Parts: sequence; C-alpha cells; structure tokens
Amino acid sequence: MKFSDKVVYQIYPKSFYDSNGDGLGDIRGIIGKLDYIASLGVDYIWSTPFFVSPMNDNGYDVANYREIDPRFGTMADVEELIAEADKRGLGLMFDMVFNHTSTAHEWFQQALKGEKKYLDYYIFKDGTADKPPTNWASKFGGNAWEYVEHLGKWYLHLFDVTQADLNWENPEVREELKEVLRFWKNKGVKGFRFDVVNLISKPAEFVDDTQGDGRRFYTDGRHVHEFLKELVCDSGIEDMITVGEMSSTTLDNCIRYSNPDEDELSMVFNFHHLKVDYKDGDKWSLMPADIPALKKLFETWQVGMSNGGGWNAVFWCNHDQPRAVSRFGDDENYHSESAKMLAAAIHFMRGTPYIYQGEELGMTNAKYTSIEQYRDVESLNYYKILLGQGKSETEALKIIGERSRDNGRTPMHWSAEKYAGFSSVEPWLSSPENFTSFNVEAEERDENSVLNFYRQIVRLRKHKKIISDGMIDFFERENPNVLAYRRTLDDASLIVLCNFRNVDSSLDEKILADYFAQGYKKILGNYDGFAERLRPFEVIVLEK
Ligand code: GLC
Repeated sequence: MKFSDKVVYQIYPKSFYDSNGDGLGDIRGIIGKLDYIASLGVDYIWSTPFFVSPMNDNGYDVANYREIDPRFGTMADVEELIAEADKRGLGLMFDMVFNHTSTAHEWFQQALKGEKKYLDYYIFKDGTADKPPTNWASKFGGNAWEYVEHLGKWYLHLFDVTQADLNWENPEVREELKEVLRFWKNKGVKGFRFDVVNLISKPAEFVDDTQGDGRRFYTDGRHVHEFLKELVCDSGIEDMITVGEMSSTTLDNCIRYSNPDEDELSMVFNFHHLKVDYKDGDKWSLMPADIPALKKLFETWQVGMSNGGGWNAVFWCNHDQPRAVSRFGDDENYHSESAKMLAAAIHFMRGTPYIYQGEELGMTNAKYTSIEQYRDVESLNYYKILLGQGKSETEALKIIGERSRDNGRTPMHWSAEKYAGFSSVEPWLSSPENFTSFNVEAEERDENSVLNFYRQIVRLRKHKKIISDGMIDFFERENPNVLAYRRTLDDASLIVLCNFRNVDSSLDEKILADYFAQGYKKILGNYDGFAERLRPFEVIVLEK
C-alpha cells in the first residue's frame, strides 16, 4: 500500500533520447530529459537494462550486472543520472534480469571451460547431440535446450540461445545476485523491476511436457516464494519499491508475491489482460480484442488482489507490447479520444500505474511495410516460423505488424523535426510517419492533448485518496462495450465509465441520470458535456 499514490514512468533507453548522435538513445539522453519526466508528476523511473551485453535481446542478455554498456554511457553517467533524478524527486528503478545471464557472462564462459563451480551456476544436463533433455520450447521459438559439443552437455535457455537460465537451487548463485542488488542500492537506486522472476525455480526432475511447451513445470515453480523472500530480505531491499514481471501466472501466486505480510515484492505485473486479442491463446494468431473477456479479467484481478491483500502494477504498454492506442483504440479516427480513454481506464484502478515512454503522447504501432524494418529477435524468428507454417509474406507481415515488440520500441517522438527529434542521424529503428502530429513539442502547446490529459490524471491520484486507497467494485458487468467501476472510501465514491468501441454505446442501467440525481459531478472526461449514450471511446469520471 505504500506505493498506492505513486506513478512509475518506464524508459527504454535505446529509444528515449540520443545525446551523442549515434542513432541510439543513451544515459546522458535521459539526464537531458529529466525535467520533462518530472513535469509529468511521476515518482519513479524504471529503465530497462543498460548493462554490458551483446544485445541479442536488447540488454536482457546481461554479460555484467555491475558495468554499463559503453553504447549507453559510463558508470559516471549513471551516477549522475541517479543524483540528478533525486534532485527532482524521482527515484530510479533498475531492471534485474536474474532468470538468466548472457552466454557472454564470465560465469557462463567459465562453465564452458568445464569449471565445475560455474557449470553448477546454470542448468546443464548430460546427453548426446541427437536428443535434448526435454521437449520444452523456448519462448522465442525452437527447443529450449542447446547442446555444447565439447562438454557433452545441454544447457537450458527459456529465451534466446544466448540467454542461459541460472540455477537458483545453487545457494552461491543466490548470493551473487544479492550482491548485485546491494551494489546498486549503495549507488542510490530506489527500487528494482525483476525480469520474468516467476520462472526462476525449476523442477527437481526435467521431463517432457506432453500437454504443452513446458511452462507448467517452471512457472511459479516450487521454491519461487522462498527464493524471493530470501533475495529481498537478505539484500535489504524490503522497503524499496519492487515489481516482479510474472509470466503466465495465477492470481493466488500474485497475492503471495505482493502481500506485504509475505515480504516478497511490492507489486506484480501480470499479462492476462494483454492476451484478449490472442486467438486460442496464441500471440501469433490475430483476432479483435475480446472486450467482455477484458472486463472480466480486470474484475477478477482488481477484486481478487484487493481481497487477498495483494497489489497490482496497472499498465497497458511496455517495451514488449504493441501500442495500446493501436491495439484497443482507433489510432486513425479517434486517436486522442481512445488514448485518453485507455489512460483513464487503468489510472483510476486499484494499483500503481506505469506509463511507458510515448504512451503519454498516444504513440502508435510502427506501421512498417517490410520485414527489413524490424530488429527484434522474437519478430525475426517468428517471421520465419510463420512462413514455414505456409503463411504468405503478406500474411506473415500483417501478423508481425500487429504483434511485434518493435511496435513499442520505436524512438520517442520529441518533435516534428527529422527523426522525431530523437537523434541527429538515422536511428536504429525507424518511426511511424505520424510523429509529426503526436510529439512532445506539439502536445505541450495543446491544452487538450493526450500529454496534458496524462498530467491531469497523475495529478488527480496525488490529490484524491479515493484513487490511491479506495476499494473497487464493478458494475454494468454484462455490458459488452462499456467498462464500469466504482471506487469507494468512507462516504466518498468515484465512478469510471469507459466505452471501448468506436461507436456510441448505451448503458444497461439508467446510470447517468441516477447519478446526477444523487449529486455526482463529472470531474474528468474526453468529450464536453454529456450525451444520452457514451460516444466513441468516451470516458466519464464522476465523483461524489
Ligand atoms: C522479459 C523482458 C523481455 C525479455 C525477456 C527475457 O519478458 O521484458 O524484453 O526479452 O524477459 O529476458
């Protein structure tokens, strides 16, 4: 609950601001934009990793947890970033990728030399080249095991082949990771985000999964809660803000991860609401977002976490997700309406909101027309897999176009100048053409911009305890178009109505008239006044 009135801003440094004209964002670029971030009213900055890395997965393949990759800057830059952020009341949260290391990490390199101590840092299994230990799938495509000929052993990689899973059963590994946390805490870092941290505890036996891709054996695994308590308590970060990224998790586990009595994490990300447009649960099969399912998931998690004493991180966007306004809104015809509605839909919920860079501008998907424009390892792998399944290039490109993680990684739109004001040279990833309309400079000038709407909702959380601490319940539950919920605290109550369609939608109950009769007032909306029915992507927030 300590973080209920806080808001976190997420930065993907490679795409935030390029200070030295090499086409890549960097740490000094973040320092230069701290005043902008502070102007949003947020409290923390979570930055995705900038540690030494071969960058096969854009820094989620860490080769040294205590050194800064020269492409991003130096340790002195990071120290300055922490200090300058602190002056503006902003705390830094660093991204700890502790499920795996890069195969370029010294530990793995020692393991490859056959060093017993370091072989035991990873999950190696004896075997022959023709048969991987299990049939588990890597989350980036293909089998999850890689054979090392000269050792006669396979190692596990749930992600890319250059991301080897650490062996958390080994207490020495756990000590190493605690040291990393202490190191950054001593540098003045105020919190941590833990990458895919519910995958760290692997089973005692490694067997084939006859029903799935193996995830049921290691997701929320047998020792995960113990390991997290130990990690957090022994490294003295209990009072800091911590968020765990939970892959394919359950409500019960998330309550345990984030209930303060358990001494694990302050809050959790879950992704169930971001799969409502996956046909049959498959990210690579398209279907329109199922709004009734989305509503149900919000209700289950909001009410369930609240009842169990857990705490949600609430979010639409991050560096792994397509842009929400393109996905759940209408980025052509109702750009600003839908971007604002989506913002309000989650910022009034119970949880700590996260804003991902550019979301506050309504940045859209990349809208690329050729596979050459993509950079992400997952997109490139799946493009080949889709072609292999017999899809045409056009079909495969359409799927990648909607699902690629690069949608969320295009450079930040600072202005309408060349390269969106991100860099003086051609950036590592290109921007959608609409940067000329949706950018910081233009939106600063327009009081009705998406940017200024974000500022307004962040401010409201700071001023109204009902938003940070109120209870929540949902109504209009059978309404196929409108998400409706109520927050309550003592005698006060707040109503949020969101139309998720690009057409007018009516409410089942005679809500609006009744509420006005009860003395409710509109405190926020994305249209003027009222209409009989909610207009396309309309949001109305009422308070009494
Ligand atoms: C998380 C990160 C993602 C990364 C993966 C493997 O899901 O957010 O970007 O590829 O973990 O580290």
